This record gives sequence, structure tokens and C-alpha cells, in this order.
Amino acid sequence: MAERTPIIAGNWKMHKTIEEARAFAGAVAAKLPQKNVDAVICAPFTALPSLVEELGGKAVGIGAQNMHWEESGAFTGEISPVMLNELRIEYVILGHSERRQYFAETDETVNKKVKAAFAHNLTPIVCVGEDLQQRESGQTKEFVREQVMKAGEGLSSADAKKLIIAYEPIWAIGTGKSSTADDAQDVIGFIRGTVADAFDQQVANEVRIQYGGSVKPDNIASYMAQPDIDGALVGGASLEAVSFLKLIEAVVGGNQS
Ligand code: 13P
Repeated sequence: MAERTPIIAGNWKMHKTIEEARAFAGAVAAKLPQKNVDAVICAPFTALPSLVEELGGKAVGIGAQNMHWEESGAFTGEISPVMLNELRIEYVILGHSERRQYFAETDETVNKKVKAAFAHNLTPIVCVGEDLQQRESGQTKEFVREQVMKAGEGLSSADAKKLIIAYEPIWAIGTGKSSTADDAQDVIGFIRGTVADAFDQQVANEVRIQYGGSVKPDNIASYMAQPDIDGALVGGASLEAVSFLKLIEAVVGGNQS
């Protein structure tokens, strides 16, 4: 069984000005544990330079929430992987359900972006997950399998191992109705099996899979206790420094603050 380092990533979505990001960075900088967990903040593009300035090289990784797959071109409003490299960030969220829902992201564009991320040494956090109707009609696994297969199409095993997959059921996002830990484990175990089918067992053992959807300091431990859940992708509860630190503390144990 591979030892997988837990990864807790905050997705700030469209929250925080540069000043607010700086204040957050100041509040967490000295308090994050140095080992046994990867802590990541995925911020709006405008806040990224100040986060790198304040937190770069410290015990937190920094990521974007989207990017285009091309290096440059006539794509008004888009940001390229080369531009993210220039910021010296490490991660990029791809295929979040809000981007699929509101910005016409598809499995095909997610796959192009995943490949572009690896080509530019960025670690993609690829989001998958079913909506309420799919859950209620028993289509969750079939749907999520397709998303995972398509996102990873054409990747080498060496890259696939570095993928981070976030299983985020859409009905659990921002609703306070989190999935039970058992249900999340059931789907995430299935996703690991899907990765084994798409690549091989070794890739499946190494790939890290997060749960996301109304994760809070008081429920994160139940997810982390599951054998296949390697961390969380957290929206609302990642916005306050105290809450973000509590999430990290719940994973490493002990009092880190
Ligand atoms: P919440 O934690 O606010 O439910 O958001 C989850 C999410 O979408 C993270 O990407």
C-alpha cells in the first residue's frame, strides 16, 4: 500500500481582494505544520502574486482555479500555463463543477488542460462529481467513471500518478449537505479502481483523491479516517485563516497553532 501524503486544498472561488489575501497569508504563515500534510490555497488570479510573495517557499502550495490549454493566442480573458509558471505557483484546479456548469467546460477541454498542466509542471486538481438527479437515479458511478477516464485520457503513467482528483458531488457544494464519509469512501474507492483500469494498480495506489463538498473543521476527520480519501478540497471553510488552520490541524493531529 502506497503512503500518500494528505492534501488539503482551499478553493477560494471568486473571493478575496489582494489586501484580504495578504491578511490571510499573514495569519497562517507561521502556523502551518512543515510536514505530513500538503496545504494548498487556490486563489483568484489577481491574488496569486501577493500570496507567492507572502507564502512562497513556506509550508503552503499555491494554485490557480482554471487556465487555458494554449500557451498564448487570441483567447480574450483567458490565462495560459506559461503565465501561471511565471507566477511560480504549483497547482491548478481544473474542471470544477462551477466551471462546467457556468462556463461550458467539458470533459474534452478538461483533458486538454490536464495535459497542458503536466507539460508546464503544474499539478492539476481535477474535479469530478454528479448532480442530485444523477445521484438519485443511481448514475453516480457511471457518470464519475466517464469523467475520470476522459480527464486522464492519453496521460503517461508517470504523469497520472501525480494527478490529484477531487470528488465533489454537486449537491454537497456550498449547501451544508455533505456526503456521509461512507458514501464518499464508496465513490472514491470506485474512482481509485477506475484509475487502476485506465492505467495500472501502481498508479491507482499513488494517485491522491480528495473529497469536497461542505467540508468543515468538525467533519474533516470522518473523511480522513477513510482508507481511500487522501484529503479535501474546501470552499467556504477555507476562507478564514482560523478555520483553514483547524482543517490542517485535524489532519496532522495535535495542536499546531
Ligand atoms: P464548499 O466547501 O463551500 O461546499 O465548496 C466545495 C467546493 O466547491 C470546493 O471546490
